[in-house]
Parts: sequence; C-alpha cells; structure tokens
Amino acid sequence: MHPKNLISITDFSKDDYLRIMELAAEFEKEPNQNLLKGKVVASLFYEPSTRTRLSFETAITRLGGRIVGFSDSSSSSVSKGETLHDTIRMVSNYVDLIVMRHPLEGSARYASQVAAVPVINAGDGANQHPTQTLLDMYSIMKTQGRLDNINIFLVGDLKYGRTVHSLLQALSVFENPIFNFIAPPELAMPIEYKRYLDSQGIRYFEHTEFTDIISEADIIYMTRVQKERFTDPMEYEKVKNVYILRNNMLENTKPTMKILHPLPRVNEIHTDVDANPKAYYFTQALNGMYTREAIISHIMGLK
Ligand code: CP
Repeated sequence: MHPKNLISITDFSKDDYLRIMELAAEFEKEPNQNLLKGKVVASLFYEPSTRTRLSFETAITRLGGRIVGFSDSSSSSVSKGETLHDTIRMVSNYVDLIVMRHPLEGSARYASQVAAVPVINAGDGANQHPTQTLLDMYSIMKTQGRLDNINIFLVGDLKYGRTVHSLLQALSVFENPIFNFIAPPELAMPIEYKRYLDSQGIRYFEHTEFTDIISEADIIYMTRVQKERFTDPMEYEKVKNVYILRNNMLENTKPTMKILHPLPRVNEIHTDVDANPKAYYFTQALNGMYTREAIISHIMGLK
C-alpha cells in the first residue's frame, strides 16, 4: 500500500525509497505523463523557496495537474489571523493533495492530521525536508550507482539544516554508511541524531575543520548556515563564513566523488568549484523535478 503522507523521511520505508528511485528514473526518461489529469494540488509556501516550490509546480504541471496556492502567506487570509488549522481544513476541501512549507517544526504533521487529503512536507522549520532527501538519494544513486557503503561528509550548519537530518535518517537504512560531520561546535549535529546512529551501530566522526580524509569521501554535502533560524544576529555573524569549499581543496578527492548542496548557496562553495566535474549541485536540483513527480505519483497511487 502506498503511504498517505510524506511528513518525515521515516514515514517511508526502504522499499518506498527504492520505488521512488525507480519512478524518478522513469520520469527522467519521460517527464510528461498525464497522470494527474483532473486533479488539483495546493502549493502552500509560508516560507521563501525557489527550487522546492518551482520544481513541485513544474512536476505537477508535467503530470497534467493544476495548482492553486500561495508563495507568500501575506497574500492569504493568514495575514488576517486565520490559523493553520482553519486554512488547511478549507484548502483540503478544494484540492486532492497539499504541498506545504512552513517555518514551524511539526506544522506539516499537524496539517496532515487536519487535512482530508494527503500532505507532503516541503520543509518544516529546522525539522525535516523529506522530498529534498529523496532527490539527494536519487542524486547519490545516479552518481555512485548505489546507496549502500556510502561515505558522506555533511558540512556546515548541521544544527538547523533540516536536509541533513532527513538524509542521515534515510541513508541509515542502507548497508554500512559512514558519516563525517564537519561543523563548528555551535552548529554541531544535534545529540538526538547522534544517539540514533549509536543505537543503530552506525559509524560517525565529528570534525571542526576540513580534513585530509575528505579524500575518502563519496559525497561531500555542503550546507548553508541557516540565517533565518538564528535568534541572535551576532551568533550568525560569528559562523556565517565558517567553511568555504574551494576548487584547490578537491585535488586529492576520489574521481567519482560528487559535491552536493541543497541550495541556495551563499558563499560556502566558491564559484571556482562550479566548473569542476565533481560539482553536481545544479544537476541535483534538476533531479528534484523527477523525484517530486515520483513522490506525487507514489503517494497518490498513480503508478
Ligand atoms: N533546497 C531547497 O529547499 O531550496 P529552496 O529553499 O529554494 O526551495
């Protein structure tokens, strides 16, 4: 049976992940398939987005569906004080599926409890970004040919970066992952994720600087310091440029290694990396469209 919602990456099983990889490859071969004909999808973005919103809306269009919604909640009745509960109750009367991004952690789960239709979490605060994780996995599968035995370096804001939280959980169901965390103490991977890895007997290593062992990486996953999650602007100023990946740092890395980044980047990857064949982040964003077609099809039981 297909899952009803995608709120946390752990709502999907390993079989679901593998099915999404299969479907994404099918959509990459043929992106235009009329599977959503006659269906309407709500795209509710309470927080800014470029890739997630536009790739979802392109995916829906390529599947033959129609889109309603907002990219700025100030243009909706939220600005008059309407609650998330009431907005979701209303919208779910109109549509067949809701895609939602919201700054509050737990908001997507709450919406799924209120909605009469499936809900896909397009990012809730610093908590989860499961559709990003599935496109990251598709990118890893395409470039490495496997999801088992991946040595991945997660770099930057591991505290507030929701994409690394979801990715850690997803890769943990595959064989023998090795996680290397590179973060300053202020932005270290939260203890609950490290406890989870400990409970699964999964190896991880923590560093505060880029180290020579990036030569062992299959994937270097860079992240932006999440300015919008800091309550103290001075704290952000202290860490905003903590790591900048430059082309000359990649000399001893594996020929097959790829650099991923959920984007947007600020300056954590120097533009001199962009022309290096190991830079994969723009293709990764394209993979998002195929993966989101796959996620919608899977949740709606269209394939
Ligand atoms: N990766 C990602 O979520 O990008 P946007 O914020 O532009 O959607």
